[in-house]
This record gives sequence, structure tokens and C-alpha cells, in this order.
Amino acid sequence: MKSDKVLLCAAVLAAFLPLSVFIALAQPYQQPPKAHHAWDDRSLSPDERADMVIKEMTLDEKIQLVHGTGWGALRPGDPIPPRSNLGASYVLGIDRLGIPDINMADSAVGVRLAAMQSRYATLLPSTLGAASSWDPKGAQLYGSVIGRELRAQGYNMSIGGGVDITREPRNGRNFEYAGEDPVLAGTMTGNLMKGLQAQQVMGDIKHYAFNDQETGRDILSANINHKAARESDLLAFEIAIGIAEPSGVMCAYNRVNGDYSCENDWILNQVLKKSFGFKGWVLSDWGGTHSTVKAALAGLDQEMPEDIYFGDALKQAVQKGEVPLSRVEDMDHRILRSMFAAGVIDNPPMPRSVVDPFKGRDDAQQIAEESIVLLKNGNNVLPLKTPGSIAIIGSHADVGVLSGGGSAQVDPPGGNAANPHPGGAGWGETVYFPSSPLKYIKQHAPNAKVEFNAGTDNASAAALAKASDVVIVFVNQPMYESHDARTLSLPDNQDALVSAVAAANPHTIVVLETGGSVTMPWDGQVEGILEAWFPGIGGGEAIANLLFGDVNPSAKLPVTFAKSDDQLAFPQVPGIDLKPVEVQVPTVMRGQRIMHNERRLPPFDVDYNVQGARVGYKWFESKNLQPLFPFGFGLSYTSYEYSGLKVDSQGHEVSFEVKNTGSRAGTEIAEVYAALPAAAGENYKRLVAFDRVALAPGESKTVTLQIDPKYVSVFDEQKDGWQLLPGEYKVLVGTSSAETPLTGSFQIK
Ligand code: BGC
Repeated sequence: MKSDKVLLCAAVLAAFLPLSVFIALAQPYQQPPKAHHAWDDRSLSPDERADMVIKEMTLDEKIQLVHGTGWGALRPGDPIPPRSNLGASYVLGIDRLGIPDINMADSAVGVRLAAMQSRYATLLPSTLGAASSWDPKGAQLYGSVIGRELRAQGYNMSIGGGVDITREPRNGRNFEYAGEDPVLAGTMTGNLMKGLQAQQVMGDIKHYAFNDQETGRDILSANINHKAARESDLLAFEIAIGIAEPSGVMCAYNRVNGDYSCENDWILNQVLKKSFGFKGWVLSDWGGTHSTVKAALAGLDQEMPEDIYFGDALKQAVQKGEVPLSRVEDMDHRILRSMFAAGVIDNPPMPRSVVDPFKGRDDAQQIAEESIVLLKNGNNVLPLKTPGSIAIIGSHADVGVLSGGGSAQVDPPGGNAANPHPGGAGWGETVYFPSSPLKYIKQHAPNAKVEFNAGTDNASAAALAKASDVVIVFVNQPMYESHDARTLSLPDNQDALVSAVAAANPHTIVVLETGGSVTMPWDGQVEGILEAWFPGIGGGEAIANLLFGDVNPSAKLPVTFAKSDDQLAFPQVPGIDLKPVEVQVPTVMRGQRIMHNERRLPPFDVDYNVQGARVGYKWFESKNLQPLFPFGFGLSYTSYEYSGLKVDSQGHEVSFEVKNTGSRAGTEIAEVYAALPAAAGENYKRLVAFDRVALAPGESKTVTLQIDPKYVSVFDEQKDGWQLLPGEYKVLVGTSSAETPLTGSFQIK
């Protein structure tokens, strides 16, 4: 009967639909026929192919590639170019030469702006969270999720890839970056971008450089001497760019030693292009271009997202001889060679696939399970045994997990779980994703009485805590672009909530969902602390799996947790108390070039020479300060023992044994640090190598790691290069920056 109906429907449809519809339905989608060009030859190098295209380009076409076409989807009411994929920017391709458009998407922790087209995008754990795994392979998986979803949605370029190191722990964007250490951050971000680009999507590393705070980010000058710069922030970029060979590097909003990053000859021409050997192109942060001739000569290759300085103005500068044509051709070369190298010309993405949300969620959960750090486990309260009653308190843990905001915001499926409304997430909105810790905790404890309290009233939260066997209190620190936290304290009196709950029940476990490090005045009052960061769409399950021991925690902190703001190099975020002033900014609004008024902070300097290269744990060590939790710290449900350190005479290789001395399988992150000879004048050690070691109970493994000579070198400003100083180098190996039971040494003559 049922099949008769189907046949009847098909017959009726066939009678009324034109034949062409059936043909269209029957045939797979075909790319429009491409004209043949000499540069289609894939046996040629990307550079050869790019040069062949440039020979055919007119001056207008050469200019067309080096700027965006406006704010488009980012600014409501602005025109949207017809072929734009509705991402952060769109560069018009050159049809007659077979050069496709460049469709760029913000995608730091997942693809942004999906809601606008009712698309789905996976929210991954924050990149700072993923950096806590110290797992380069996990970082590649992270990148591959983003790359795959970009491609499925028709984008050919990501503008994620933040690697600004955590100089300012209250920076609103730390969740988009990979922590305070240049070797860890560079390795993780480089591998993330490598994984992304392996999906044949162009990648990007940003914000180059010293965009280490959001307060006054468009005007402040980050001032730092070249030696310290090369050994800290720039080293993170150097490592990431070396690993990923990204198509793009986005120059930052801020100034560096007086010059805007996007017109800064030192950081662009001298360091990035000459010293790092970067072959891709430099694109400005959005609205971060401030000149034509100066920027072009300093090494900027593309203005984003407009054409105020690199459109007609650049053409005229070329015609007047102020910018050599060869410089514009170099810009084009860098863009085209990157497009060929990434495969987006030979195999352009088509917005014709459905993103796989299931695979994305599994991957996100796996990454979260490697990212969540166990910071305290008094009386072995974790993993949870089988409590009769559990109180779950605070942070909307009944409906979801927190995400980071700004241009890294991913739109939550079904809307904000804590505050559903139509449309995508708003700028600065505190957005929860529908992965409910409460739901998964209940699944793990089917026989327990599990009750939720919103945590908005300390007395009622404490009353529930008192009546329960165990309490899990969730606290949060919403963070987003363009805004820094004023202090390291949790907002909204959450410290008082934790204290009230812990006073009512000694078996209190705190789960933190924070953008970065926070202070914990209650750490002595609670039994357990788990740092979950912004854990992504699989976060609820991952948290529950760790709490109940289905997963043994392995993550370690990629940032130092200070006891108070006073311990930081700047007890206050520089500039945070300045009053904004009205400034005029050129822009193109609704197709019209105008000057518009914006409220911005007045220009100010931030003296990064105060810290120099002593960022994070290096600062704490050099000042002899005891942090709340040290860099590289994280507990497990098993225990490990280190022994047998061997260091080769040149310090190229170290080997040692790690043994699992407990009764559970686990993965230990082994950390290798080096202290340079006295002549280096460094009263701190440096992370130089690390590895994740998976161990069955009782198992022991020999770990052999190489030390990159650059990581134990100093940067010599006079010689403009890295130098290994003669003398004795100490090697320290262990489980965190504060616990290095093995010591050895090597000599450089
Ligand atoms: C951010 C960039 C982002 C761009 C486009 C800027 O405000 O700093 O990271 O890629 O906007 O959304």
C-alpha cells in the first residue's frame, strides 16, 4: 500500500516537473568548465606557477588581489559581494585567469558566522585548553576539524591561528592562544595550522606581533628590545610559521616600538620575511592598515577588509613611482604561490557538503578530555566513587558549557543554551553551548540523587551542598575579544559562592570554565579542582568522564596561575584606567568612503622591557615568586616516577625513564627544561622539549627527546642571529616547571 503511494507520487511529479529538473537531480554537481592555462601544470612549483599568472595580469588585476572588498557580513547593512561566502572577508578572484575568489572565515576554535546561513559548525575546546594537552598530534586533529568544516562550507582560507603568548594573563583573547611559553605555543599552533592546511584550505597565523592585551589594542605601542622580542613572542611565531608554512600571517592592530604592526619594517620585512623566510602573504587585521606607501614598503601585502590604502591609492602610488611595481608583484606572488601551494586553485572547495556534526563532536570531546587539567585532588576525592547524592551548582551546568566570544565565537546549535534567542551569537554575549554537564553526570551516577542549584543565591546553594554527599560547583570567567578582565578574580562574586558551598560541605569539587588563569582564594577550602577552560561542544561529557574516572586526566597547565594580580609584571592591565577619546577613522560604509567617529583610548606605551623574555613562569622564577599553580602542572589518578637521565655531550639529545607507579593506565607529560650558562644572565629556566608518554600500570618507558639548539640559544642583536654561548648548561626533567627531579648538564666549548 505504502509503495503504491510512493509510485503514484512519483508519477504525479513526473507529469508536472520539467525534464530539466530530473536531469539536474540525476547528475552530480559539475564544476564550471575551466579554460586551460599554462600554469595549470601541477608539475611546476607554486612559485613558477604564480609568476606565470603575474605575467598575464593587468595593473588593475594586480591591485585587485591585494585588498578585501569591505566589511560585508561583519557589519550589518554593508553590501555583500554577490559571490562572497558570508565570512569575514572576500577577495575577488580573476576569472579570466582561472584564479578563484578568496573566501576567508574566522575560525579560531571553530568556523564563525555559521548561523547566518543556518549552517552547523563544531565548537572545539579553546585553543588554550587544547594547548594543555601538550599534544602536537591532537593539535593537528583540532586543525583538521576546522579545515574540513571550512571546506565543506565553501571557504578556502582560515584566519584563525593565534599564537600571541600570555604576557598579560588578563588578556581577553588568551583563550584563542596557546599559553605563555614560546616553544609550547609555537609547537601547538604550528601543528594546528598544519592539520588545517592538510585539508587543502589556506591557513593563517596571527596577530603578528605583541597583540598581548586588548585594552587599547588599536593604539598602544608595545615596546621591547630586539633580543627579548626574538626570545619570547617572536620565537612563538617563528616556531609556528616554521612548522605550518601558513599561507597568511595577519599583522596586529597595535604598534611595536612606535610603528603600527602593519607598517613595521622591522617585524615584517626584517624578521618575518628575511629572518623567518616566510613565503606567504601578510594581511592586515581588520582595519589595521594605516598607510599606503609606508605599509607597502614595510612588507604589508594585503589590506583587510577594505581598499582604503591598497586600492586606488596603491595604484596611484605605483604610477607615481612611490611604490615599485615589483613590490606589488611581490604581494601578488605571495598570494598566488600560497593558493597554488595549498591546492585551492587545483581543487577549489565547493559549498556542497554537509558538515559532519557527529565526527566533529567526537573529535571535540577527545580533545577536551586531553585538555582538562586536574589541579587538586585532596583525599583522592576524584574520581568520584558512588555518592548517594550529588549537588551540582552554578554556571548553567544544567544546560551547557561556556564558550569564548568575539571573532572566535562559534554559533551554538539551537541558540545560546542559557539564553535562547533567534539569530547567531551577539558580540560580547556570554554564550553557552548545549553540552550539559548535569545530564552526563546523571548518566554516570544513575542511582544517585543529583540536584541542580543555579548558584545565584549563596544561602540556597549552601543548603543544597549541606544536604548532599558531594558538591560539584561550576564557576566561570566569560572572555571575549576587545575586552580584558580587570583582575584575575572570578567575576560576579563567584569566590563567595565557592566559599559558602565549601563551608557547608568539605567534599566540594570546583570545575572552572575560564578563558585563562584566575585566582582561587578558596583553594584551601575545597577538595578538588578541575580546570576545564572553555571545553567545546563535547565539554559536558568530557567533564563527566574525568570526574568519574572513565578518562584519567593527563593535561598540564600552559600558563602559570598567580596567587594575586600583584605577582604579575603589571599589577594592573596597562591603560585600563585611561578614558576613551573620540577619534575619526576612515572606512567604507555601505559603499561610501567616510570618516566615522569611534571612541578609542588615547595613544600609550607599554614597556615590555619590564619583563623582557621573562614571560609567565620565567618571570615568577626570576622574581622568586610562588604561584598558585605552576606552569606545566597537572595531576593524574595514577603516579609517575622519573629516573636515569642521560644527556649527550652536545646537549642535542636527552633520554630518561618514566614509570607508572600507580594502579591505573595514564599518560604523563614529561617536561625538559634547560638553564643557560651564567653569561646568559638568565635567572630562570626554559622549556626545551616535552612528550606525552602513555603507560600501563607498572609500565616503564625510555623517553628520548631532541633539543633544538635554538631553544637553548640567545639572540645576538649585533650579529642579528642566534648564538650558543660557551659554558655549562643544566638540564632539568620532570613533571612540571616546579618539580624537576632529574638534573644533568652539557658543556658548549
Ligand atoms: C580580529 C581578528 C579577526 C578579524 C575579522 C578583528 O577584530 O582582531 O582576529 O580575524 O577581526 O573578524
